[in-house]
Amino acid sequence: MSTTAIDRPTSTAALASASALVAPLAAPHTLQTGAPALPANTVALLTLREELITHHPVNDLMRNSSRAMLQFFELYGHFAYGFAPFVCTLFTTLRGQRAKAFIYENLLDEMGCVSGQATAWDNQHGELYRSFLTTLRRTDVYQSHIGEKEQRELDVMSKRLADQAYGTYYELVAEGNDAQSVGAFSGVEGWVAAEYPFWRACLASLGNDMRFVDMRTIEIHCEADVEHARVLDELIGEYAGGVQAADVHRGLLRGIEISQTLFAAMRDVMSREA
Ligand SMILES: [Fe+2]
Repeated sequence: MSTTAIDRPTSTAALASASALVAPLAAPHTLQTGAPALPANTVALLTLREELITHHPVNDLMRNSSRAMLQFFELYGHFAYGFAPFVCTLFTTLRGQRAKAFIYENLLDEMGCVSGQATAWDNQHGELYRSFLTTLRRTDVYQSHIGEKEQRELDVMSKRLADQAYGTYYELVAEGNDAQSVGAFSGVEGWVAAEYPFWRACLASLGNDMRFVDMRTIEIHCEADVEHARVLDELIGEYAGGVQAADVHRGLLRGIEISQTLFAAMRDVMSREA
């Protein structure tokens, strides 16, 4: 296996970006809207949701090996392609109008409907990731680490991992418990805003080749998902303060397990010798 250590960037912006390699952003679940404080056991689960990802061994593999990092972005592909349909399914399955209202903004963002901008199919978040990966594959650094045959194999594995993750989630949603479904959704996507800055810093470490990579998917998820997580945590707080506390907490745990299963499987692939 080829392992190329990350060269540390030196510009101020790059240093700020590189700090994300070691220090995750402040947890976005700190409510700022005057909403009641979250119960301590809910806060603990929301923190667990993020830190099990931001401290996952996958991050060390990405930090220490360009090859492993590139494998990761391949393996994450089908999970990214499937995310908008996943939010769609959640939205249509939720029974409570209030829960639907909380998910709606997120759904519009996923589908590429940005307020004030013309709707374009290629702004759909799965398509943004596809463009990112397509342009990444063309770079010299990618081609020096991953050949065409391996790229196809990684794509097949990525599809299998995504099918497994979403299959588990769709079964959970079919149980028809809104609080549980929303909790699980948070367990699956609530770590995005904390993790993507690290991915951005990893990619920046690959150097000049990144000029040719479509980074919109990375930039968007560093920013938009801070608000997504905050809004979702507000809804979770409502469930957690009422009779559905156990449901939303169980959902969080089941969502966290889906994310952990996905990341553990990616780690296994990334740890293999070429
Ligand atoms: Fe997204």
